[in-house]
Amino acid sequence: MVEKWSRLPRGQHVPCRQEVFLLAIKAITQCSFGDYILDEDQVAKFWKAYDTCWFDFDKRQRGDEPNPGSDREKKFNDAKKYMYDILAAVIQVRRKHPTIENRQMLVDVMIENSIPDDVMQCDAMTYVIGGFHTVGNWLVWTLHFVSMYPEIQDKMYQEVKDKLNDTGKVIPDNVAQLVYIRQVMEETLRMAVVAPYAARYDDEKDVTLGGYVIPPGTPIIQALGVGYNDPSIWQNPDKFDPDRFSPEKVAERHPYSFQPFGFAGNRKCPGYRFAYAQVATVLANILLKFQVHHVDGLGVKAMYGLVTTPQNEVWLTITPRSDKNKEE
Ligand code: HEM
Repeated sequence: MVEKWSRLPRGQHVPCRQEVFLLAIKAITQCSFGDYILDEDQVAKFWKAYDTCWFDFDKRQRGDEPNPGSDREKKFNDAKKYMYDILAAVIQVRRKHPTIENRQMLVDVMIENSIPDDVMQCDAMTYVIGGFHTVGNWLVWTLHFVSMYPEIQDKMYQEVKDKLNDTGKVIPDNVAQLVYIRQVMEETLRMAVVAPYAARYDDEKDVTLGGYVIPPGTPIIQALGVGYNDPSIWQNPDKFDPDRFSPEKVAERHPYSFQPFGFAGNRKCPGYRFAYAQVATVLANILLKFQVHHVDGLGVKAMYGLVTTPQNEVWLTITPRSDKNKEE
Protein backbone atom coordinates (compact mmCIF):
# COMPACT_ATOMS: atom_id res chain seq x y z
CA MET A 1 0.00 0.00 0.00
CA VAL A 2 2.86 2.37 0.86
CA GLU A 3 4.48 1.65 -2.51
CA LYS A 4 1.20 2.23 -4.31
CA TRP A 5 0.62 5.51 -2.47
CA SER A 6 4.17 6.62 -3.30
CA ARG A 7 3.31 6.53 -6.99
CA LEU A 8 0.17 8.72 -6.66
CA PRO A 9 0.24 12.25 -8.08
CA ARG A 10 0.55 14.98 -5.41
CA GLY A 11 -2.83 16.04 -4.03
CA GLN A 12 -4.79 13.04 -5.35
CA HIS A 13 -7.60 11.98 -3.05
CA VAL A 14 -7.14 8.51 -1.56
CA PRO A 15 -10.20 6.36 -0.71
CA CYS A 16 -8.89 5.39 2.71
CA ARG A 17 -11.62 2.91 3.63
CA GLN A 18 -11.37 0.99 0.37
CA GLU A 19 -7.57 0.77 0.62
CA VAL A 20 -7.41 -0.14 4.27
CA PHE A 21 -10.20 -2.73 4.11
CA LEU A 22 -8.45 -4.47 1.23
CA LEU A 23 -5.32 -4.61 3.34
CA ALA A 24 -7.24 -5.87 6.38
CA ILE A 25 -8.97 -8.69 4.51
CA LYS A 26 -5.68 -9.75 2.95
CA ALA A 27 -4.02 -9.78 6.37
CA ILE A 28 -6.69 -11.83 8.11
CA THR A 29 -7.19 -14.33 5.28
CA GLN A 30 -3.44 -14.86 4.93
CA CYS A 31 -2.94 -15.28 8.66
CA SER A 32 -5.81 -17.75 8.80
CA PHE A 33 -5.41 -19.67 5.51
CA GLY A 34 -1.77 -19.10 4.57
CA ASP A 35 -0.94 -18.01 1.05
CA TYR A 36 -3.99 -19.66 -0.51
CA ILE A 37 -5.61 -16.36 -1.50
CA LEU A 38 -2.94 -14.02 -2.76
CA ASP A 39 -4.40 -12.92 -6.05
CA GLU A 40 -6.01 -9.47 -5.70
CA ASP A 41 -9.13 -10.46 -7.72
CA GLN A 42 -9.68 -13.47 -5.50
CA VAL A 43 -9.32 -11.33 -2.38
CA ALA A 44 -11.90 -8.92 -3.82
CA LYS A 45 -14.30 -11.81 -4.58
CA PHE A 46 -13.95 -13.20 -1.09
CA TRP A 47 -14.53 -9.72 0.34
CA LYS A 48 -17.70 -9.30 -1.77
CA ALA A 49 -19.10 -12.64 -0.57
CA TYR A 50 -18.15 -11.75 2.98
CA ASP A 51 -19.90 -8.37 2.79
CA THR A 52 -23.07 -9.98 1.41
CA CYS A 53 -23.25 -12.20 4.49
CA TRP A 54 -22.07 -9.52 6.94
CA PHE A 55 -24.70 -6.94 5.96
CA ASP A 56 -27.45 -9.56 5.86
CA PHE A 57 -26.41 -10.77 9.28
CA ASP A 58 -26.43 -7.19 10.55
CA LYS A 59 -30.07 -6.89 9.38
CA ARG A 60 -30.99 -10.22 10.99
CA GLN A 61 -29.54 -8.98 14.26
CA ARG A 62 -32.03 -6.12 14.13
CA GLY A 63 -34.91 -8.57 13.63
CA ASP A 64 -35.09 -8.31 9.81
CA GLU A 65 -35.00 -11.98 8.71
CA PRO A 66 -35.09 -12.93 4.98
CA ASN A 67 -38.25 -14.63 3.70
CA PRO A 68 -37.72 -18.35 3.10
CA GLY A 69 -36.98 -18.93 -0.61
CA SER A 70 -36.44 -15.20 -1.30
CA ASP A 71 -33.68 -13.80 -3.53
CA ARG A 72 -32.10 -12.31 -0.45
CA GLU A 73 -31.89 -15.69 1.25
CA LYS A 74 -30.45 -17.25 -1.92
CA LYS A 75 -27.82 -14.52 -2.23
CA PHE A 76 -26.82 -15.06 1.39
CA ASN A 77 -26.59 -18.85 0.99
CA ASP A 78 -24.61 -18.61 -2.27
CA ALA A 79 -22.10 -16.19 -0.72
CA LYS A 80 -21.73 -18.37 2.36
CA LYS A 81 -21.22 -21.50 0.24
CA TYR A 82 -18.57 -19.69 -1.83
CA MET A 83 -16.58 -18.90 1.31
CA TYR A 84 -16.99 -22.35 2.86
CA ASP A 85 -15.90 -24.01 -0.40
CA ILE A 86 -12.73 -21.91 -0.28
CA LEU A 87 -12.18 -22.94 3.33
CA ALA A 88 -12.59 -26.63 2.44
CA ALA A 89 -10.06 -26.23 -0.40
CA VAL A 90 -7.61 -24.39 1.90
CA ILE A 91 -7.73 -27.25 4.39
CA GLN A 92 -7.03 -29.82 1.67
CA VAL A 93 -4.08 -27.85 0.28
CA ARG A 94 -2.61 -27.10 3.72
CA ARG A 95 -2.91 -30.74 4.70
CA LYS A 96 -0.69 -31.69 1.76
CA HIS A 97 1.70 -28.73 2.17
CA PRO A 98 1.47 -27.83 5.86
CA THR A 99 3.92 -24.98 6.35
CA ILE A 100 5.35 -22.31 4.14
CA GLU A 101 8.83 -21.24 5.16
CA ASN A 102 8.15 -21.83 8.85
CA ARG A 103 5.17 -19.51 8.83
CA GLN A 104 2.48 -21.48 10.62
CA MET A 105 -0.98 -20.11 9.97
CA LEU A 106 -4.17 -20.73 11.91
CA VAL A 107 -5.24 -23.60 9.65
CA ASP A 108 -1.81 -25.30 9.98
CA VAL A 109 -2.08 -25.21 13.76
CA MET A 110 -5.59 -26.67 13.68
CA ILE A 111 -4.56 -29.47 11.28
CA GLU A 112 -1.65 -30.29 13.56
CA ASN A 113 -4.10 -30.59 16.46
CA SER A 114 -6.47 -32.91 14.52
CA ILE A 115 -9.44 -30.57 14.68
CA PRO A 116 -12.34 -31.96 12.57
CA ASP A 117 -12.73 -30.29 9.15
CA ASP A 118 -16.15 -28.74 9.81
CA VAL A 119 -14.92 -27.20 13.08
CA MET A 120 -11.80 -25.91 11.32
CA GLN A 121 -13.94 -24.24 8.67
CA CYS A 122 -16.09 -22.54 11.31
CA ASP A 123 -13.09 -21.47 13.40
CA ALA A 124 -11.20 -20.04 10.42
CA MET A 125 -14.37 -18.16 9.43
CA THR A 126 -14.80 -16.91 13.00
CA TYR A 127 -11.30 -15.43 12.85
CA VAL A 128 -12.06 -13.68 9.58
CA ILE A 129 -15.27 -12.29 11.11
CA GLY A 130 -13.46 -11.27 14.29
CA GLY A 131 -10.46 -9.74 12.58
CA PHE A 132 -11.55 -8.05 9.37
CA HIS A 133 -14.02 -5.19 9.95
CA THR A 134 -12.68 -4.59 13.45
CA VAL A 135 -9.10 -4.00 12.35
CA GLY A 136 -10.16 -2.30 9.10
CA ASN A 137 -12.36 0.18 10.93
CA TRP A 138 -9.81 0.75 13.69
CA LEU A 139 -7.30 1.76 11.03
CA VAL A 140 -9.68 3.94 9.05
CA TRP A 141 -10.79 5.82 12.16
CA THR A 142 -7.21 6.26 13.36
CA LEU A 143 -6.12 7.66 10.01
CA HIS A 144 -9.16 9.93 10.00
CA PHE A 145 -8.36 11.33 13.46
CA VAL A 146 -4.66 11.78 12.81
CA SER A 147 -5.46 13.56 9.55
CA MET A 148 -7.27 16.17 11.67
CA TYR A 149 -4.37 16.67 14.08
CA PRO A 150 -0.98 17.25 12.36
CA GLU A 151 0.78 17.79 15.69
CA ILE A 152 -0.31 14.34 16.91
CA GLN A 153 0.83 12.88 13.61
CA ASP A 154 4.26 14.51 13.94
CA LYS A 155 4.66 13.05 17.40
CA MET A 156 3.81 9.59 16.10
CA TYR A 157 6.26 9.99 13.23
CA GLN A 158 9.02 11.00 15.63
CA GLU A 159 8.34 7.99 17.81
CA VAL A 160 8.51 5.58 14.87
CA LYS A 161 11.74 7.16 13.68
CA ASP A 162 13.34 7.09 17.11
CA LYS A 163 12.19 3.65 18.21
CA LEU A 164 12.26 1.68 14.96
CA ASN A 165 15.38 3.25 13.46
CA ASP A 166 13.61 4.29 10.27
CA THR A 167 12.68 0.68 9.40
CA GLY A 168 8.93 0.74 10.15
CA LYS A 169 9.36 -2.92 11.10
CA VAL A 170 7.17 -3.73 14.06
CA ILE A 171 8.03 -7.01 15.79
CA PRO A 172 6.85 -8.42 19.12
CA ASP A 173 10.02 -7.07 20.78
CA ASN A 174 9.57 -3.46 19.72
CA VAL A 175 5.80 -2.99 19.49
CA ALA A 176 5.69 -2.20 23.22
CA GLN A 177 8.06 0.72 22.61
CA LEU A 178 5.49 2.54 20.50
CA VAL A 179 3.87 4.00 23.58
CA TYR A 180 2.44 7.15 21.98
CA ILE A 181 1.11 5.33 18.92
CA ARG A 182 -0.69 2.96 21.25
CA GLN A 183 -2.21 5.97 23.08
CA VAL A 184 -3.51 7.32 19.76
CA MET A 185 -4.88 3.88 18.84
CA GLU A 186 -6.66 3.54 22.18
CA GLU A 187 -8.12 7.04 22.04
CA THR A 188 -9.46 6.07 18.61
CA LEU A 189 -11.12 2.93 20.01
CA ARG A 190 -12.78 5.19 22.59
CA MET A 191 -13.81 8.11 20.37
CA ALA A 192 -15.01 6.03 17.41
CA VAL A 193 -16.46 3.26 19.65
CA VAL A 194 -15.07 0.71 17.18
CA ALA A 195 -16.74 -2.20 19.02
CA PRO A 196 -19.91 -0.77 20.61
CA TYR A 197 -20.69 -3.70 22.86
CA ALA A 198 -19.60 -7.07 24.18
CA ALA A 199 -22.20 -9.67 25.16
CA ARG A 200 -22.33 -13.00 26.94
CA TYR A 201 -24.71 -15.33 28.66
CA ASP A 202 -24.04 -18.25 30.93
CA ASP A 203 -25.42 -21.53 29.53
CA GLU A 204 -25.80 -23.38 32.76
CA LYS A 205 -25.74 -21.51 36.03
CA ASP A 206 -26.84 -18.32 37.78
CA VAL A 207 -24.43 -15.38 37.67
CA THR A 208 -24.37 -12.78 40.44
CA LEU A 209 -23.48 -9.28 39.27
CA GLY A 210 -23.61 -6.24 41.54
CA GLY A 211 -25.91 -8.14 43.91
CA TYR A 212 -28.37 -9.18 41.16
CA VAL A 213 -28.86 -12.85 40.32
CA ILE A 214 -28.99 -13.38 36.56
CA PRO A 215 -30.49 -16.71 35.45
CA PRO A 216 -28.79 -18.90 32.79
CA GLY A 217 -29.48 -17.89 29.18
CA THR A 218 -30.04 -14.19 30.01
CA PRO A 219 -27.96 -11.97 27.72
CA ILE A 220 -25.57 -9.68 29.59
CA ILE A 221 -24.56 -6.77 27.41
CA GLN A 222 -21.70 -4.46 28.24
CA ALA A 223 -22.47 -1.17 26.47
CA LEU A 224 -18.85 -0.22 25.86
CA GLY A 225 -19.74 2.99 24.01
CA VAL A 226 -21.82 4.34 26.90
CA GLY A 227 -18.87 4.07 29.28
CA TYR A 228 -16.56 5.76 26.77
CA ASN A 229 -18.69 8.89 26.85
CA ASP A 230 -19.15 9.10 30.59
CA PRO A 231 -17.90 12.57 31.67
CA SER A 232 -17.30 11.31 35.21
CA ILE A 233 -14.54 9.09 33.75
CA TRP A 234 -13.40 11.10 30.72
CA GLN A 235 -13.16 14.88 30.98
CA ASN A 236 -14.53 16.50 27.77
CA PRO A 237 -15.35 13.10 26.28
CA ASP A 238 -15.96 14.60 22.80
CA LYS A 239 -12.37 15.77 22.52
CA PHE A 240 -9.77 13.57 20.79
CA ASP A 241 -6.95 13.48 23.30
CA PRO A 242 -4.43 10.60 23.22
CA ASP A 243 -2.86 11.87 26.47
CA ARG A 244 -5.79 10.29 28.32
CA PHE A 245 -3.98 7.01 27.70
CA SER A 246 -0.59 8.02 29.09
CA PRO A 247 0.64 5.34 31.54
CA GLU A 248 0.03 7.77 34.47
CA LYS A 249 -3.58 8.53 33.44
CA VAL A 250 -4.34 4.86 32.84
CA ALA A 251 -3.06 4.01 36.32
CA GLU A 252 -5.52 6.54 37.82
CA ARG A 253 -8.62 4.93 36.23
CA HIS A 254 -10.52 1.78 37.14
CA PRO A 255 -9.45 -0.95 34.68
CA TYR A 256 -13.11 -1.61 33.78
CA SER A 257 -13.53 1.93 32.48
CA PHE A 258 -11.81 0.86 29.25
CA GLN A 259 -12.16 -2.73 28.08
CA PRO A 260 -12.48 -2.41 24.29
CA PHE A 261 -11.81 -6.10 23.75
CA GLY A 262 -14.50 -7.33 26.09
CA PHE A 263 -14.97 -8.22 29.70
CA ALA A 264 -15.14 -11.99 29.62
CA GLY A 265 -11.83 -12.95 31.28
CA ASN A 266 -10.27 -15.80 29.33
CA ARG A 267 -12.98 -15.45 26.69
CA LYS A 268 -12.24 -11.84 25.91
CA CYS A 269 -11.15 -11.12 22.34
CA PRO A 270 -8.40 -13.62 21.47
CA GLY A 271 -7.20 -11.40 18.61
CA TYR A 272 -6.34 -8.28 20.58
CA ARG A 273 -2.55 -8.60 20.53
CA PHE A 274 -2.64 -9.40 16.85
CA ALA A 275 -4.91 -6.40 16.24
CA TYR A 276 -2.59 -4.02 18.15
CA ALA A 277 0.47 -5.31 16.27
CA GLN A 278 -1.26 -5.10 12.91
CA VAL A 279 -2.64 -1.58 13.35
CA ALA A 280 0.66 -0.31 14.82
CA THR A 281 2.59 -1.84 11.90
CA VAL A 282 0.39 -0.22 9.27
CA LEU A 283 0.43 3.17 11.02
CA ALA A 284 4.20 3.06 11.50
CA ASN A 285 4.79 2.30 7.83
CA ILE A 286 2.37 4.92 6.54
CA LEU A 287 3.53 7.69 8.85
CA LEU A 288 7.21 7.07 8.17
CA LYS A 289 6.60 7.87 4.52
CA PHE A 290 3.64 10.26 4.44
CA GLN A 291 1.73 13.00 6.12
CA VAL A 292 -2.00 12.36 5.83
CA HIS A 293 -4.45 15.26 5.51
CA HIS A 294 -8.22 15.38 5.67
CA VAL A 295 -10.11 16.82 2.73
CA ASP A 296 -11.64 20.19 3.64
CA GLY A 297 -15.43 20.20 3.80
CA LEU A 298 -15.85 16.42 3.93
CA GLY A 299 -17.31 15.37 7.27
CA VAL A 300 -17.24 11.79 8.51
CA LYS A 301 -20.31 10.40 10.25
CA ALA A 302 -20.42 7.13 12.17
CA MET A 303 -22.79 4.27 11.40
CA TYR A 304 -23.24 2.00 14.41
CA GLY A 305 -23.76 -1.75 14.13
CA LEU A 306 -21.77 -4.80 15.16
CA VAL A 307 -18.72 -2.64 14.43
CA THR A 308 -18.76 1.15 13.99
CA THR A 309 -17.93 2.20 10.47
CA PRO A 310 -17.87 5.58 8.67
CA GLN A 311 -21.13 6.12 6.73
CA ASN A 312 -19.28 7.04 3.54
CA GLU A 313 -15.82 6.72 2.09
CA VAL A 314 -13.13 8.58 4.06
CA TRP A 315 -11.09 10.60 1.57
CA LEU A 316 -7.57 11.69 2.50
CA THR A 317 -4.72 13.35 0.70
CA ILE A 318 -1.14 12.44 1.36
CA THR A 319 2.20 14.16 0.95
CA PRO A 320 5.52 12.37 1.15
CA ARG A 321 7.30 13.04 4.46
CA SER A 322 10.42 13.85 2.47
CA ASP A 323 8.65 17.03 1.17
CA LYS A 324 8.10 18.28 4.72
CA ASN A 325 11.61 17.32 5.83
CA LYS A 326 13.05 19.27 2.86
CA GLU A 327 10.96 22.34 3.80
CA GLU A 328 12.38 22.18 7.32
C1 HEM B 1 -10.20 -3.52 16.69
C2 HEM B 1 -9.96 -4.78 16.89
C3 HEM B 1 -10.87 -5.68 17.69
C4 HEM B 1 -11.83 -5.35 18.63
C5 HEM B 1 -12.21 -3.95 19.12
C6 HEM B 1 -12.40 -6.58 19.08
C7 HEM B 1 -13.39 -6.68 20.04
C8 HEM B 1 -13.93 -7.85 20.49
C9 HEM B 1 -14.95 -7.94 21.53
C10 HEM B 1 -15.56 -6.75 22.28
C11 HEM B 1 -15.23 -9.24 21.70
C12 HEM B 1 -16.25 -9.85 22.69
C13 HEM B 1 -15.54 -10.27 23.94
C14 HEM B 1 -16.48 -10.54 25.09
O1 HEM B 1 -17.58 -11.03 24.90
O2 HEM B 1 -16.11 -10.21 26.21
C15 HEM B 1 -14.42 -10.00 20.76
C16 HEM B 1 -14.45 -11.36 20.62
C17 HEM B 1 -13.75 -12.04 19.67
N1 HEM B 1 -12.79 -11.53 18.81
FE1 HEM B 1 -12.20 -9.61 18.68
N2 HEM B 1 -11.80 -7.63 18.43
C18 HEM B 1 -10.86 -7.12 17.57
C19 HEM B 1 -9.99 -7.82 16.75
C20 HEM B 1 -10.02 -9.19 16.60
C21 HEM B 1 -9.12 -9.95 15.77
C22 HEM B 1 -7.96 -9.35 14.96
C23 HEM B 1 -9.50 -11.26 15.83
C24 HEM B 1 -8.94 -12.49 15.20
C25 HEM B 1 -7.76 -12.55 14.64
C26 HEM B 1 -10.63 -11.32 16.74
C27 HEM B 1 -11.32 -12.46 17.06
C28 HEM B 1 -12.31 -12.55 18.02
C29 HEM B 1 -13.00 -13.79 18.38
C30 HEM B 1 -12.75 -15.18 17.76
C31 HEM B 1 -13.89 -13.48 19.42
C32 HEM B 1 -14.84 -14.43 20.17
C33 HEM B 1 -14.13 -14.96 21.40
C34 HEM B 1 -14.93 -15.99 22.18
O3 HEM B 1 -16.16 -16.01 22.10
O4 HEM B 1 -14.31 -16.76 22.90
N3 HEM B 1 -10.92 -10.05 17.19
N4 HEM B 1 -13.63 -9.13 20.06
